[in-house]
Amino acid sequence: MSSPRLEPGSSALRVLVGVSGGIAAYKAVELVRLLKKEGHSVRCALTRAAGAFVTPLTLEVLSGHRVYQEEYLAGDGSGEELHITAAEWADVICVAPATAHTIARFANGLADDFLSTTVLAFDGPLVLAPAMHSIMWRQESVSANVARLRERGVTLVGPAVGPLASGDVGIGRMVEPAEILATINGLQEPGPLAGRRVLIAAGPTREALDPVRFISNRSSGKMGFALARAAVARGAAATLVAGPVSLPSPPGVERVDVTSAEEMAAAVRIAAPQADLIVMAAAVADFKPTSVRTSKIKKSEGGLDSIELERTEDILAGLRAIAPKAVIVGFAAETDDLLSNARSKRVGKDVDFIVANDVSRADIGFEGDHNEVTVVGGDTETRFERQSKSALAERLIDHVSRALVDRERQPA
Ligand SMILES: Cc1cc2nc3c(=O)[nH]c(=O)nc-3n(C[C@H](O)[C@H](O)[C@H](O)COP(=O)(O)O)c2cc1C
Repeated sequence: MSSPRLEPGSSALRVLVGVSGGIAAYKAVELVRLLKKEGHSVRCALTRAAGAFVTPLTLEVLSGHRVYQEEYLAGDGSGEELHITAAEWADVICVAPATAHTIARFANGLADDFLSTTVLAFDGPLVLAPAMHSIMWRQESVSANVARLRERGVTLVGPAVGPLASGDVGIGRMVEPAEILATINGLQEPGPLAGRRVLIAAGPTREALDPVRFISNRSSGKMGFALARAAVARGAAATLVAGPVSLPSPPGVERVDVTSAEEMAAAVRIAAPQADLIVMAAAVADFKPTSVRTSKIKKSEGGLDSIELERTEDILAGLRAIAPKAVIVGFAAETDDLLSNARSKRVGKDVDFIVANDVSRADIGFEGDHNEVTVVGGDTETRFERQSKSALAERLIDHVSRALVDRERQPA
């Protein structure tokens, strides 16, 4: 479950349709029918619970292939490892419906039945169509599992808002099979940022005092990493200049690890001239110690009563000169006068957008998984309500990409 897109070109796909145990399992029958009609090859895998909702025979007849069920994990007597064969066969795995339980298994790398083991053995695009009651969907545990899967590049389609099996109306309904088919077909299309280079800087920097101590800040890098993932999912070639964070590289991203503001500035300077879109989501230290001791400062020396600091390079302010045509986006982490500071920062640094980020609130911002921002542009100020950083990253990339498309349309 890594590559968010397929190589464009091959129109007929081999799709493994996984079905887990929810009421919407009956819609998997229609999905298989639509996939076949479209010319794709289909195989199906049912969880044990799914077998109570839809009969393997129906799926077998429609797909034209035997249905994998839990017992196939033990093999079919042929000596073949069927979960490996199935994972190698598939171009795409699509699980529809994906129950809360199956989502949790995928998010945690469990492999306790045929479908979960095959998904774990699979390295291509995974599409999930969640379906469950709204209360289940909104549970912290489910949200965390979904966010984790998104971070790994898994495509989630839906759930939709509408009448639920319980008779309630709300979010949780599986999207219609036609929408799932369109999502699977869309994996082959070049994304809206295909052919564009995106440079993203993320995380904090560390400014050394001596070999063991440094000055840093609370940036986790989550927002910048989510932006890089969103850019790649839209077909961009993305370079991620990352300060010291403990986050895995998003699939398909070229990552450059740096530690200090000076190193970050150097890495950004190298990548910026080729970039069409630059997002400085890093929390670069504004100050660094004027000198770095070569050996550890001893308590007994009493030499740390004060630290003399000097300004670091303002990376954002220097970007326009080296990337005159790029769309440049800065982040303003503020605790006071959020919008007025963002407006003057945008003009002062000659950038296209400032994403104003209120870091005084505990429920959003630096270390959390959620954020709420206002994007200040030349003519527009757009507010993005509190949402997960991965969802927000997708909205932000779409928002600033529109400026990129507009710029490219303008006569040179
Ligand atoms: C009638 C009925 C309907 C259910 N519908 C759903 C559903 O829509 N979504 C869901 O996440 N779980 C649903 N469940 C619970 C799952 O079937 C249960 O969590 C099961 O362990 C899922 O296993 P699986 O993910 O391996 O298929 C339903 C259970 C029943 C009895």
